[in-house]
Amino acid sequence: MRLKDKKIIVTAAAQGIGRATAMMFSKEGASVIATDINEEKLTELNKENNSIKTQKLDATNKNAVEDFCASIETVDVLFHAVGFVHHGTLLECDDTEFQRSVNVNVYSAYLMSYNLLPKMLDKGKGNIIIVSSAASNVKGAPNRFIYSTTKAALNGFVKALAADYVRNGIRCNAILPGTVETPSWEGRVNMADDPKQARKDFIARQAMGRLAQPKEIASLATYLASDESDFVTGTLNLIDGGWTL
Ligand SMILES: NC(=O)c1ccc[n+]([C@@H]2O[C@H](COP(=O)([O-])OP(=O)(O)OC[C@H]3O[C@@H](n4cnc5c(N)ncnc54)[C@H](O)[C@@H]3O)[C@@H](O)[C@H]2O)c1
Repeated sequence: MRLKDKKIIVTAAAQGIGRATAMMFSKEGASVIATDINEEKLTELNKENNSIKTQKLDATNKNAVEDFCASIETVDVLFHAVGFVHHGTLLECDDTEFQRSVNVNVYSAYLMSYNLLPKMLDKGKGNIIIVSSAASNVKGAPNRFIYSTTKAALNGFVKALAADYVRNGIRCNAILPGTVETPSWEGRVNMADDPKQARKDFIARQAMGRLAQPKEIASLATYLASDESDFVTGTLNLIDGGWTL
């Protein structure tokens, strides 16, 4: 019960890292509100663990985020996992794709934090965890132009927020995964001409010869969400199986 009595909001909780983290947070005693745009999968999550409350929420929709946050009385932790992977180089990223990635990856983090931080400041304690990526300012990865650009922005976001509110009891940290076996990763592999071979090649390229499991990211998130990490703020936590070594 490492998160006993903590009220935690999780975004992108319907699948992948967000879902595994919502489940682990709940198992560790937190009271979790799981949000996502995918209502069907949220319902499945609630069926698997009915102590997790679910709420459909598009984290890029200003009015929806404002309404949702206004309905929350108190919050201890925001775990923000919303993100979209655009595959391509700079020349393959047109205006629409550029704006889309900035909106989903960066604006959503701003909107959620902007609306929840005042509640944390009122309490004199709060904790924001942002899921960024090793593919950012940390590692140049091919065909991840706008993805890495937005994740680098999130790394700056975390440092700046942590610096501004360190004296107000607020912590803010980032998690920078390498490649994690999630439905969106499966989707990207299945788009290849030979998905079976693509999967094999992808795994062979990993420094540890395997991908991360969402639960492994959830374990790091649990530490960052708990009071065990009370002295930790402004950190970029790589969890990449040695990809950036
Ligand atoms: N999977 C990886 O290999 C990997 C690696 C590094 C970082 N990440 C990051 O981890 C986070 C989660 O990735 P994943 O692969 O676990 O997730 P995923 O792509 O499998 O699932 C993403 C979830 O986000 C939801 N979502 C999308 N847009 C949303 C919006 N506007 N508002 C609310 N919910 C929205 C989707 O419905 C979906 O349930 C992302 O930020 C991603 O960039 C993932």
